Amino acid sequence: MDDTHTIWIEKYRPSRLADIVGQDEIVERLSSYVKTGNLPHLLFTGSAGVGKTTAAVTMAREFFKDSWQMNFREMNASDERGIDVVRNQIKQFARTTPLGDATFKILFLDEADALTTDAQSALRRTMETYAQTCRFILSCNYSSKIIDPIQSRCAIYRFKPLGADAVKEEVRNIAGKEGLNITAGAMDAIVYIAQGDMRKAINALQGGAIMSTTIDEKMIYAITSTARPDEINELLGLSLAGDFDGAESLLNQLLHERGIAPNELINQCYRALVKRDMDRTLKVQLIDHIGETDFRLSEGANSDIQLEALIARFVLAAQKGK
Ligand SMILES: Nc1ncnc2c1ncn2[C@@H]1O[C@H](COP(=O)(O)OP(=O)(O)O)[C@@H](O)[C@H]1O
Ligand SMILES: [Mg+2]
Repeated sequence: MDDTHTIWIEKYRPSRLADIVGQDEIVERLSSYVKTGNLPHLLFTGSAGVGKTTAAVTMAREFFKDSWQMNFREMNASDERGIDVVRNQIKQFARTTPLGDATFKILFLDEADALTTDAQSALRRTMETYAQTCRFILSCNYSSKIIDPIQSRCAIYRFKPLGADAVKEEVRNIAGKEGLNITAGAMDAIVYIAQGDMRKAINALQGGAIMSTTIDEKMIYAITSTARPDEINELLGLSLAGDFDGAESLLNQLLHERGIAPNELINQCYRALVKRDMDRTLKVQLIDHIGETDFRLSEGANSDIQLEALIARFVLAAQKGK
């Protein structure tokens, strides 16, 4: 395959548990299953791009070695062909005997929280029926969406969003292998846009690498359609100083010239506000306004109007506080 067309999140997906960064405790516990040769059912929870699938695949490789592909299967519970197809495939895989020296197979079910309560109950029965021949690893964003009888049968692993150090380590590693120079500002920008999601970080890096072998922060913000943190702070600063016209013009520039998505902009304002050193009472009010606007956008309200209204509310709240 032409190397320039390889997707880096696949090319650099860790192939050993030890290569997973930023999840040391989890990696250690999973490695001990490999050492003892035992495995309970597992439930992996956590946001996207933190290593859940990678952990399942690398563990299966270490468990089964050469026969890993025969004894490991990955399925997605939100498969568009429907739950019956998934259910049949799960049963088909789970009930057949493990191959080679393996004493059980491993089935990784991604997006298990997409299953309805009824489907989860059926899954629970399948897990019990075939527990001798098959161990299940369920993956989801929120463990609260998984029924208690499943949770109580699984060892639960909570994957944290990756910290800045972990993201930097992996990005530096890939950049080294690809012969890229990354400025310190670009590194910080990658950490900022990734928000703990390694998939986002690596995709941003690859996006930059298409343009140049030297990656700077401007490229990272442009590729990911993200405003720079200083622009967000300026937007907040103008609103809080009562300069509605200035804030509105900056808002329009970000939305319409730079093409930043309204919900992304809200999210960035929220992150900047939380960090901002300012009057607490006012901060609480502003976050309340952000929550309201976020909800309205999710309900489909006109985003131009809602964002301008948000700025207006900021101006008013700041004036009242004076
Ligand atoms: N902890 C990690 N260490 C190293 N790479 C990671 C890590 N988490 C994610 N990645 C990278 O991001 C990609 C997506 O990760 P994945 O395990 O599929 O995330 P999830 O299943 O949690 O959404 C992987 O191919 C890998 O390149
Ligand atoms: Mg995954």
